[in-house]
Amino acid sequence: METQPIRFYHRGQVQQVTDAPITRTVLQYLREDARCTGTKEGCAEGDCGACTVVIGELQQDGELSFKAVNSCIQFLPTLDGKALITVEDLRQADGSLHPVQEAMVECHGSQCGFCTPGFVMSLWALYQQHQPGGPAPDRQTICDALTGNLCRCTGYRPIIEAGQRMMSLPAPHASRLEPKAIATALRTLMREDTFHYRDPSGAVFHAPRTASAFAALKAAEPSARILAGSTDVGLWVTKQFRELGNLLYVGQVEDLQQVVEHDGVIEIGAAVSLERAYAALTDAHPELEELWKRFASLPIRNAGTLGGNIANGSPIGDSMPALIALGAEVVLQHRDTRRTLPLEDLYLAYQKTAMAEGEFVAALRVPVSGPQHFRTYKLSKRFDEDISAVCAAFGITVADGVVRQARIAFGGMAATPKRAAQAEAALLGQRWDEATVKGAMAALSRDYTPLTDMRATAEYRARGAANLLYRFWLETRDDALPAAAVNVRAPGAGSVPASAATAATV
Ligand SMILES: Cc1cc2nc3c(=O)[nH]c(=O)nc-3n(C[C@H](O)[C@H](O)[C@H](O)COP(=O)(O)OP(=O)(O)OC[C@H]3O[C@@H](n4cnc5c(N)ncnc54)[C@H](O)[C@@H]3O)c2cc1C
Ligand code: FES
Ligand code: FES
Repeated sequence: METQPIRFYHRGQVQQVTDAPITRTVLQYLREDARCTGTKEGCAEGDCGACTVVIGELQQDGELSFKAVNSCIQFLPTLDGKALITVEDLRQADGSLHPVQEAMVECHGSQCGFCTPGFVMSLWALYQQHQPGGPAPDRQTICDALTGNLCRCTGYRPIIEAGQRMMSLPAPHASRLEPKAIATALRTLMREDTFHYRDPSGAVFHAPRTASAFAALKAAEPSARILAGSTDVGLWVTKQFRELGNLLYVGQVEDLQQVVEHDGVIEIGAAVSLERAYAALTDAHPELEELWKRFASLPIRNAGTLGGNIANGSPIGDSMPALIALGAEVVLQHRDTRRTLPLEDLYLAYQKTAMAEGEFVAALRVPVSGPQHFRTYKLSKRFDEDISAVCAAFGITVADGVVRQARIAFGGMAATPKRAAQAEAALLGQRWDEATVKGAMAALSRDYTPLTDMRATAEYRARGAANLLYRFWLETRDDALPAAAVNVRAPGAGSVPASAATAATV
């Protein structure tokens, strides 16, 4: 196997790298090799957004897409065939500022300026999706686009105002970022076959283009570490200084990037980004909207995959409780053979899954029709971009006042994402009333023995989990409480009748 150079488009030309370690981050390359120091390092773990850059990629339909990502946790070889856009690219050829930058100046969106390049790049990605003349993004869309950017001195109001103002400024007249030119350059970088890059230490980065080639490589070298969006794996390098060995990248495998609906299921390929996956899931199950928006930040969801979340199987991962409650199945592949498991059966013990040697997650299948009542709730210290202390999902079907089906799953309560068998049994065949719910709340203490850690105490978790079940009942009983009585962020919250608000306090 011959090594090939890493080729990507940056600063108006194709760049080639032949000597970087396979885990060199894009941020290290930018600041230390390319000397593009506009992009900053804050946390080196995907949390602060100081390192935000935009990746341009040709889609399967030939269109160019732009996505903001955190360069501190992306490895350089993942750029092969893509465009890297940084804050240095925005100033126009005649020296004038891009409208995003101009708006930041006019709205006083910067003080110390350390966070500013990251905010500018997140806003630039948003600007590209709402070209001047098109509909302007609303305030909520701007806030969502900025969930991955922290600012500690300016305050967010002027930055959000800049996001609103940028669309009304004159469009760039001498841009150095012509999408057509970028797309043309990217077409010259397209590869037919697997990309192999060997670094000076001998470690290899493989990026196959088909699931079959991916499966063959994984079977031939089971110890090769699968790399997807790198939003978990990247931190093993930047925070734990782990040696990863050879890497097998799913990001170029076209047949793992599909979202299709067939036979009553939505099938989501393992390499589909969290952002695309949640958009498809929320289409079928609108109750997932809040979980989607509170999952990490937009740059993390642009890079991270649903397959990575499932395969990593973290006990505090957010997707699994909801998917288990919906009755999802995971598709595992070994060579060209696929098998399907109920998602809950994938998790055997802490960091131990049912995946055999050489096997990998190929897809996830989620029923299009859900239970009659379905909700997910995330308890975390911050509303945006925070890891769950407890993540709950409840799905029940009630007929003639009696619970006929119940699927309850929690994250943060055990060593794996786990169904609440005792609580489900306490509900099945019983009337959907307060006495039954209180019985199921008590049963949760037999299902789980949560731990105390930096996110929450065991007592908080146990009590929070039981109270979430009570809230689910308040929201779904015959005389259900309005959203404003149970959710402080719902429109009209704070103005609910005192009786309803009292009922909602357990
Ligand atoms: C700032 C920040 C915020 C975060 N917030 C959240 C949050 O709110 N909720 C949450 O649940 N998570 C969160 N995470 C964790 C992370 O984003 C998710 O777990 C994400 O889904 C991982 O996907 P990935 O594609 O980046 O996986 P990677 O990091 O590339 O891989 C993760 C693991 O899965 C394995 N893997 C990947 N794909 C496959 C496959 N197809 N088959 C077999 N194994 C595979 C890898 O080998 C590795 O062991 C956060 C992370 C960061 C950095
Ligand atoms: S440096 Fe903080 S997100 Fe990358
Ligand atoms: S301007 Fe100082 S951190 Fe944002």
